[in-house]
Formats: sequence, structure tokens, C-alpha cells
Amino acid sequence: MKNNGFILITGATDGIGLRTATEFAKQGKNLIIHGRNKEKLKETAKRLEELNSKIVIKTVCADFENLKETKDAFEQIKKESINCLINNAGCFTHELKLTIDGLERTYQVNHLAHFLITHILLDSLIKNAPSKIIVVASMAHASNVDFKAIEKGHFLKSYGAYSLSKLCNILFAFKMARELKDRNVSVNALHPGVINTKLLIEGWGACGSSVENAYKMIEFAYNLDTSITGQYLKDFRIQKAADFAYSKENQDRCYEISKKQLEKVKICLTSFL
Ligand SMILES: NC(=O)c1ccc[n+]([C@@H]2O[C@H](COP(=O)([O-])OP(=O)(O)OC[C@H]3O[C@@H](n4cnc5c(N)ncnc54)[C@H](OP(=O)(O)O)[C@@H]3O)[C@@H](O)[C@H]2O)c1
Repeated sequence: MKNNGFILITGATDGIGLRTATEFAKQGKNLIIHGRNKEKLKETAKRLEELNSKIVIKTVCADFENLKETKDAFEQIKKESINCLINNAGCFTHELKLTIDGLERTYQVNHLAHFLITHILLDSLIKNAPSKIIVVASMAHASNVDFKAIEKGHFLKSYGAYSLSKLCNILFAFKMARELKDRNVSVNALHPGVINTKLLIEGWGACGSSVENAYKMIEFAYNLDTSITGQYLKDFRIQKAADFAYSKENQDRCYEISKKQLEKVKICLTSFL
């Protein structure tokens, strides 16, 4: 991989994303860090700059609960030379909450917003290839998706919403891997481990291991040859995700529904495949 391109990490202000940004900064990698809170993002960028003054650090601020805000923010940085995108930001909530876009919050933040930004950054990733897209999914992904329910706007909450969003992460990763196969852009999904972060505490109580372990898993994916694509990684090897994720029909259906959901809020991207 080219060294001088940017690695963009979503959700780099806390937990796994913050640790990954910190380790990459120490190694001299140029970073674009994303966060939803302006002050927290500024503070994070400052601390990373203090760690290594030789690298370039840029920021992008967007709350993924607002798709228009997300689109506008990422449009601003789409011309940067990005050769690695780490789709990491995520949330878990027990209650059912709808976003300003009328969608279930966990689904939108974990899946749909990343679907949107990946497309916005696609031209840069292709132009700066060899490139990588690393999707931070979870072993807590669902075994299937009720597409009809999603189309009808029937929302899940709590663990149901979270595991659905994580299966959509994997379906999207596998679909993009197929589409980008001849473009020298690899796309892999991974389970980072059970890691002690605020997301885990919110959903499962504090019972995970250190963020260092999650970083090592992301580093493992980052160092894989770009010929390894369309895989689900766990415990530092290729493993099997839910059977449902390997069906091209399911991948395509998830893709089409996501695209329609964006169109419904008047977001049409020219780089749709
Ligand atoms: N922890 C685990 O055991 C575990 C296991 C499997 C998968 N994962 C996955 O790992 C990823 C990172 O999670 P984590 O455990 O590191 O959680 P975390 O410590 O809570 O960090 C989540 C990051 O996402 C950002 N974020 C949350 N809601 C957002 C929104 N509406 N818009 C934009 N950004 C938002 C957070 O911003 P703030 O800093 O402003 O809160 C933070 O930077 C997630 O995709 C999660 O599903 C985690």
C-alpha cells in the first residue's frame, strides 16, 4: 500500500477507533479521523498531533443520525487521497429511537451512514489503489434479515437492531468486494473481539478485553494482501460468517434497499454501482 495516502477511521473519538488512530499515528500514518462531537474530535486530533508531529491529521465531523449532515461533511473530504477506509463508528441502544431521517437509529448509524460514506469516498479509494475498506462488524451479527419488514419500515430495537445492522455490514462488505474485485480495492469485514468500550458496557456490561486487542485485529486486516477480499475475519484468520451473508441475492437485496432508503431522503449519489 502507498504510505502517503490517508487512512480514514469513522468513530475515531473513542473505544476501538480511538485506539486504532493512536497506534497508526505512532507509526507515522496520515489520518482523517471522524467523530460526531466537534469538541471531542478537535481534542482527539490535538492529542494525535502531539503524539507525532510529522503526520497530517484531518478531521470530518458528522452525526450519522443525520444523513444530509453526513453527506455534506464527507463531500468536503472526498478529493483527499484516501487508500484505506475503516468503517468503525457504531452504537447500541436498548430503546427504539428514530432518526431525523425516519429510520431506526442503530441501523442508520451502523449500516446506512457507512453505506453512504463508502460511496462518497469510492472514487478516491479507486484512484489511490491499492486500497482497503475494513468494515468493523461483529460476531453478534444476525443469522438473517427480514427484508420485507425493513421495506415496510418495521423496526427492531436493542439486540435485534444491533445484530441486524452488523449482518448488513457484512452483506455490504461482501457485495462491495464483488463489485471492486477488478479495481484493486479489497473489502473485508471483521469481528474485533469482545472489547471493553462504552458500546459493550451499554449492551452487555463491562466484560471485554482491552482495545489493544481490537487494534491488533484491525492491523491484521490492514496488513493483508489486497488479493484477500470479501472475507469475514475473526481471531486473526478468515472465518465463516452467517450463511445468509454469502448469498449474492441477499447482498444485492440489502444493497438495493439501502440505496432506496437514501433516495427516499433525497440522497442520490453519482457513484452508485
Ligand atoms: N466493543 C465490542 O466488544 C465490539 C464487538 C464487536 C463489534 N464492535 C464494533 O466496533 C465498533 C466500534 O465500537 P466501540 O466498541 O469502539 O464503541 P465506542 O467506544 O462506543 O465507540 C463508538 C464510536 O462511534 C461513534 N459514534 C457513535 N454514535 C455515532 C453517531 N450517531 N454518529 C457518528 N459517530 C458515532 C462514537 O462517537 P463518540 O466518541 O462521540 O461517542 C465513537 O467514536 C462498532 O461498529 C461496534 O459495533 C464492538
